[in-house]
Amino acid sequence: MDIDWGALRAAAADVAGRAYAPYSRLRVGAAGLTGDGRVVTCCNVENASFGLTLCAECGLVSALHASAPAAPAAEPFLVAVAVVARDGNPLLPCGRCRQLLQEAGGPALLVDTAGGPVPLSDLLPAAFGGADVAARREPRREPGES
Ligand code: THU
Repeated sequence: MDIDWGALRAAAADVAGRAYAPYSRLRVGAAGLTGDGRVVTCCNVENASFGLTLCAECGLVSALHASAPAAPAAEPFLVAVAVVARDGNPLLPCGRCRQLLQEAGGPALLVDTAGGPVPLSDLLPAAFGGADVAARREPRREPGES
């Protein structure tokens, strides 16, 4: 799939203009190209209780699922992501967002950086994922069973 990084960055810069970031004054926009060729976007939304702040990528992952076709053939996923500040230049995703992106795009997801696109696995090596849950969970127990 062709990735128009300029368009993705521009979409991220545009949505950064709609961020609600009165506390940090760092407006962030994220734009992602989906496996079925759509572009989804979101911005950061802060809260007076600082820990409740929603990063731009967090909203992006919600938008990925919320905007998917009614009966998607497969789980919607991201193939490329640009995250920028309002100045339009790339911003590296925070740790929590790298984990969110990992679930939404996997290790091959391309992430825009100042030095060009890199696979998410470069930013989040040895990631924890759904396979670890499946491999290490304990057997289900009925109520009252020890
Ligand atoms: N922020 C994001 O939106 N994404 C990131 O990956 C890094 C941080 C936001 C959260 C907060 O509103 C502001 O940037 C300062 O941390």
